[in-house]
Amino acid sequence: MPAPAGENDPALVAAGRARIEWADGQMPVLRSIRERLAAERPLGGLRIGACLHVTAETACLMQALAAGGAEVALCAANPLTTQDEVAAALREDGCATHGRRGEDADAYVEGIVAVVGERPQVTLDDGADLLTFIHAGRTELLPELVGGTEETTTGLVRLRALELACPVIAVNEARTERLFNDHYGTGQSTLDGILRATNLLLAGRTLVILGYGWTGKGVALRARGAGAQVIVCEIDPMRALEARMEGFEVMPALVAAERGDVFVTVTGSRDVLGAEHFARMKDGAVLANAGHFDVEIDLPALHGAAPDPPRDVLPLVTQFDLGGRRLNLLASGRVVNLAAGQGHPAAVMDMSFANQALAVEHLVRHGAELGPGVHPVPEAVDREVARLKLASLGVEIDVPSAEQEQYMRGWGAG
Ligand code: ADE
Repeated sequence: MPAPAGENDPALVAAGRARIEWADGQMPVLRSIRERLAAERPLGGLRIGACLHVTAETACLMQALAAGGAEVALCAANPLTTQDEVAAALREDGCATHGRRGEDADAYVEGIVAVVGERPQVTLDDGADLLTFIHAGRTELLPELVGGTEETTTGLVRLRALELACPVIAVNEARTERLFNDHYGTGQSTLDGILRATNLLLAGRTLVILGYGWTGKGVALRARGAGAQVIVCEIDPMRALEARMEGFEVMPALVAAERGDVFVTVTGSRDVLGAEHFARMKDGAVLANAGHFDVEIDLPALHGAAPDPPRDVLPLVTQFDLGGRRLNLLASGRVVNLAAGQGHPAAVMDMSFANQALAVEHLVRHGAELGPGVHPVPEAVDREVARLKLASLGVEIDVPSAEQEQYMRGWGAG
């Protein structure tokens, strides 16, 4: 693949290294795992292919895996989220990295092809593009696969629908990941992306959240904290009930369409905002997607609803004029926390990537016993990540006595 222009620019490489160093400073859990992997080298000679957002935090994960002895190749998991300076620093420091912010669909696929060309034995995915690519077209590589890991709910939906030839560890479903990544991470970084793109004042506005899963809950909580009126639209009755009991207004999306100033989709589904919704929205409404794929807002329908071509009114804001009512789409409907912001804070990715690194080690040590299919992160790994995080925060906790352990396990005593 041709090197992107300016790749060897020393200033770009230096900026990337500085950013990686900053992230490393906020990732004490991954750092302690890297130090152990470097001492034990359990990944010696392992070929790892990763299709992740190319960020400073991902660079820290690549370094931890390389410290454990692996040969790592990385490509972007989204055409809009690559931090070019980080990619330049990684390449300069010997990690084959493919991806450029704003690359087109062909270049994006070329990155995946390049990583697959390294014949990975372990895959790391954020959206399942790498592993599905191998299953769909490079089946000769399947026998060499020790296993894979997956970072997102969307990716897991795809992988569960596939007849997998290897074990995949559902990093996204680890308790430590859910709490930090979906709840605190996306909750904060989605609002950060929206604010960077628009500089809106949230206080006093009505923010409509479509989808009240872990991520939707995080966004709702933070938006309320910023003073917004929050409306939740949700198809699952349990989740809708929970939203109501948390004090949010709950209603169908078509009703909310008339009320919202800002709309955030986080459903993992498609076309949750479409022509009927656009037809009811107020002038100036802002549309953002925080789901993995850019299908949650029906973009063809949005283009179809505007008689004239849309205008880029700010770097990440595209305005569609629907005959006097203007709707503002952020970051082309792509995942707004990464496309308009910097993604999850490093302290959040510390937990995700600690789980990733330990999941890779688990695959190497126990992959053969696991068998094909999606597997949970082992409970011991989840607890170890939580323990390391507490230690890094200087927090100590109580240890149950032998009597308490016995009481909690037994059924006899009342
Ligand atoms: N996903 C969300 N935020 C991220 C980040 N900072 N790095 C890598 N993947 C991410």
